[in-house]
Amino acid sequence: MKLILATAALLVSGVVALPQYAAKIPNGYGVPNPGPQGGIWAGVGHVRTAGGGERNSFGLDFAANGFEWTKELCELDSDGDGRSNGEELGDPNCEWSEGQEPAGPALSHPGIVDEPKEAGASSQCDNYVAPDDEMTMDISFTVPVNITKKRTHYQCEQMLLDVPAKTVLHKIKHGVLLDNHNILHHMFVYICPAGTDSSDGNKVGEGPYKCSGNESGCRRIGGWAVGPHESCNPPNVGHEMDFSELDQFVVKIEAHYDNNMGTSQLDQSGLRLYMTPTLRPLTGSQLWAGMMPNDIDFLIPPNETNYPLSNICPTVMTERMDRPVYVYGFNPHMHLYGHSLVTEHYRCGQKIGEIGRISDYEFDNQQTYTLDPPVKILPGDALVTTCQFNTTMADSDIKGGRSTNREMCFNFLDYYPIAGTEKIPTLMSACISVETGFRRKGGMTPIRGAFGDLDQKSLVFDFESKPEASVGSCCESNNCEELYVSGADGACGVDTDCINDLVCVGGICEFPPHGASTQALESSARKMNVGLFLCWAGIAAAMSCATLLY
Ligand SMILES: *[C@@H]1O[C@H](CO)[C@@H](O)[C@H](O)[C@H]1NC(C)=O
Ligand SMILES: *[C@@H]1O[C@H](CO)[C@@H](O)[C@H](O)[C@H]1NC(C)=O
Ligand SMILES: *[C@@H]1O[C@H](CO)[C@@H](O)[C@H](O)[C@H]1NC(C)=O
Ligand SMILES: *[C@@H]1O[C@H](CO)[C@@H](O)[C@H](O)[C@H]1NC(C)=O
Repeated sequence: MKLILATAALLVSGVVALPQYAAKIPNGYGVPNPGPQGGIWAGVGHVRTAGGGERNSFGLDFAANGFEWTKELCELDSDGDGRSNGEELGDPNCEWSEGQEPAGPALSHPGIVDEPKEAGASSQCDNYVAPDDEMTMDISFTVPVNITKKRTHYQCEQMLLDVPAKTVLHKIKHGVLLDNHNILHHMFVYICPAGTDSSDGNKVGEGPYKCSGNESGCRRIGGWAVGPHESCNPPNVGHEMDFSELDQFVVKIEAHYDNNMGTSQLDQSGLRLYMTPTLRPLTGSQLWAGMMPNDIDFLIPPNETNYPLSNICPTVMTERMDRPVYVYGFNPHMHLYGHSLVTEHYRCGQKIGEIGRISDYEFDNQQTYTLDPPVKILPGDALVTTCQFNTTMADSDIKGGRSTNREMCFNFLDYYPIAGTEKIPTLMSACISVETGFRRKGGMTPIRGAFGDLDQKSLVFDFESKPEASVGSCCESNNCEELYVSGADGACGVDTDCINDLVCVGGICEFPPHGASTQALESSARKMNVGLFLCWAGIAAAMSCATLLY
């Protein structure tokens, strides 16, 4: 069942590109964009991917047929590419009617001459199963934005979102509604409390405006950068969209354009969020590792082939977490000179592994890589992120910056469960430019809410920036791993993250299927010390039990 939030639980005022006819054709919400960047062609019957305006050949036939999916329309080959509309839209036998599940996915576009999607191209979303109560919300610019020849442009738009009281949803997937792939560099969607000014002012209902990429007070709920067009969470993980405290919110869309086409260009891209009101057991989050682009230490000399910039997320940061987190995906982001990136994982001063390494980074094809099994980060661990740049083509220093011809160095780490305390729910949302404090022109500055809880002063740490010096408190007794095993329903990456014979299923420690290994349970129960046994039996009697059970 697809629910469009505008007509269901949530009311998105002013958001267009809600494909009003999409429900009337098979897979109307999932018609692939055959252009080089892929994505979804939201306005299936239109020449422009975002919809509106001139109709394509399929749109003309659909309109002529009274906007109904009939056997005749299904058997027609509107775009004349040798495949019927039904074959292209996943209804090869012309059996589909509104509200039904189509026979298969949409393979290609019925109104554009194109090739069927390559079968077997694996993506993060291959195993995605849409829940029965899946809701979708499309957030796009209400009118096409006109991007003149200037290379770097930020455009924003703010729209009001009416939400019934006490709504808490989990976002489980998002996809891009890509319109003009020639100029869109990245796009973010934020939720901000209504009535308060976001850092670029309260501009609800004013249409698209030029903005600075400034979003304090807002929460990022989705994003896309040049690369794959969909991103999915693991089956037990959702990203919280908590609308419980207010009944009106502002949705803010922010797009970064890089126009080197030589002419002004129009774009009306957006994001589609997939959500469920049935909250998943684990709440996911994202940790930014790397270096702030406006850090004054972000400087790459020209004529270098492997110039490294390193940054440490030290013990003093990770030790604020109260339990381990599991990183299941990483998404490196640099610009045109970046060619490799690695995040190294240190524990007790020793390198114990890597959380993602790529050596063939391409700006035009940015990927989110899956880590399976996930990497477990303990409180006290340190992460060192290093980007390498090739500036042989540059004729002067390359500074960090938001425009495409400057550089960035981020590794976005997707993890569960959200690390935080009741007071600071987003404790580990960013650990960037920490090594000497974040320095930028004009002194220390808290950066766009990225550190969440940290005020200006606490950005300066008194510690050595060497990973060897980064030693958590568990290192003293050499029992870091043992300190952090999960009990039933706790988070895990592999079986050994769970106490005793619990098994890790979809990121959660569970008792093995009934009767599976009574003997194994008994034999290991004998080996357990009393404290562990109490924990295992679910009796949190001893204080030590509380630290063992997460
Ligand atoms: C976009 O802006 C340019 C420069 O201001 C203008 O020449 C052009 O006509 C505009 N295009 C559209 C479709 O409005
Ligand atoms: C971000 O917003 C603040 C407060 O409105 C403003 O002072 C600052 O100049 C903005 N930053 C940028 C990069 O435009
Ligand atoms: C770049 O480096 C190469 C080799 O180190 C050197 O021969 C060349 O002169 C340098 N070019 C510039 C513009 O500095
Ligand atoms: C650096 O970039 C130049 C220009 O794109 C390329 O020719 C060269 O092979 C690159 N060198 C390395 C080590 O990647």
